[in-house]
Amino acid sequence: MSPYTSISALLRSPVSDGQVSLRGWIYRTRSSGKIVFSVVRDSTGIIQVTIKKGNLPDEQFEAAASASIESSVEVTGSMHQDDRAPGGYEVRASALRVIAPALPYPITEYQSEELLLDNRHLWVRSREQTAIMKVKATLLAGARDWLAENEFTEVTPPIFTQNACEGGVTLFKLKYFDREAYLSQSAQMYLESLIFSLEKVYSITPSFRAEKSRTPRHLTEYWHMELEEAWVDNDGNMKIQEELVSAMVAKVLQERREELELLKRDIEPLKAVAPPFKRLRYSDMIDLLQKKGFDIEFGADLGAAEERAITEEEIAPVFVTNFPKECKAFYMKEDPDDPRTYKCADLLAPFGFGEVIGGSERETDLNKILQRLEAAGIPEDPYRWYLDLRRFGSVPHSGFGLGVERIVKWVCNLEHIRDAIPYPRTVARVYP
Ligand code: 4AD
Ligand code: MG
Repeated sequence: MSPYTSISALLRSPVSDGQVSLRGWIYRTRSSGKIVFSVVRDSTGIIQVTIKKGNLPDEQFEAAASASIESSVEVTGSMHQDDRAPGGYEVRASALRVIAPALPYPITEYQSEELLLDNRHLWVRSREQTAIMKVKATLLAGARDWLAENEFTEVTPPIFTQNACEGGVTLFKLKYFDREAYLSQSAQMYLESLIFSLEKVYSITPSFRAEKSRTPRHLTEYWHMELEEAWVDNDGNMKIQEELVSAMVAKVLQERREELELLKRDIEPLKAVAPPFKRLRYSDMIDLLQKKGFDIEFGADLGAAEERAITEEEIAPVFVTNFPKECKAFYMKEDPDDPRTYKCADLLAPFGFGEVIGGSERETDLNKILQRLEAAGIPEDPYRWYLDLRRFGSVPHSGFGLGVERIVKWVCNLEHIRDAIPYPRTVARVYP
């Protein structure tokens, strides 16, 4: 067993008699002659360490007194209650070893966003970033739990592709030996092919979009959780989404209260995230937006401002269904009850956060797909394999793609999506 205890375990069950050992990095430190107060952090939390000359060998005291923040240390000492210390306890050091000193830290309290982004490899140590990464991991774990319980099989689609799923404009093209290929925008078409053996599948992969627009919700590389289900219509697809998203949020509420508190995230609205989510029709939303003064007509896509107007008074996510065909991709199923539209839905997060999921029932009529490709001037050749899926025992099916960082942004109440990923890639940034 490790002789070191994690800081959260120490604070959870303080050892009032006897020695404790911990290790981590100096988070804050101040010295006043014969006494040094350092706050040490590890992956689980922070604790105050008091280092008093005479309580430990002199050279250890000197090393502690001159160690700057982010130096790595091992500490042994006794725990004492102290209401002024974070967590209510301090450790009085009887031994302290500086494992490696740190240079003067380039990040101080008030820093420009640019400097933080240039020093992202150091900023990822911050308590906010740590909390966000933990919430993200728990959201993914919550999803995987729910997917396993509901008998979805996780699959591993390719990232190099030769066909566009979401249109040519945002494709990253690359040289693939002597051919051209793209980085995947979506695993959807490959997932569609896998339902014929596995019926219910999902994947969690990076997706790439050459998004030129600088917005607080677009990355060029993001994590995409995609599901595809045989024998499911658009309505069933929405039921899966609302259950999945609710399970993800519930797990965070269960396991990440401290992190949400650190991020100053009000958890009350998150408790309202439970099925069923509202279903709103696109055409009704156009009426609503016109009443709110938007200059918008049936046929126009919803942008960030429109999505904000629709969701600003919502507490839980809402679906917007039946988008007109001109807004969406060629693979969606035409709605026989309103052939101007597809059987599709976007899931919008509340309080103006906007789209977090895009999904639809898929078109199974080969001729309709061929007509749409032709009308859009999209060459058929790269899609030959995809079209085959409609030729060999096609079945009704649906699926969707969830933007993992979009969900993190909403659940953590972040202003910008770049904080939902340790190394954000945007038009302006691929370093570090
Ligand atoms: O709505 P999108 O483009 O849908 C698809 O790609 C479908 N083929 C998915 C499927 O049915 N399997 O993207 C899905 C989701 C969006 O709702 C959004 O949450 C996220 O992916 N997303 C982005 N997230 C961050 N940065 C970007 N540039 C994103 N583009 C889409
Ligand atoms: Mg979309």
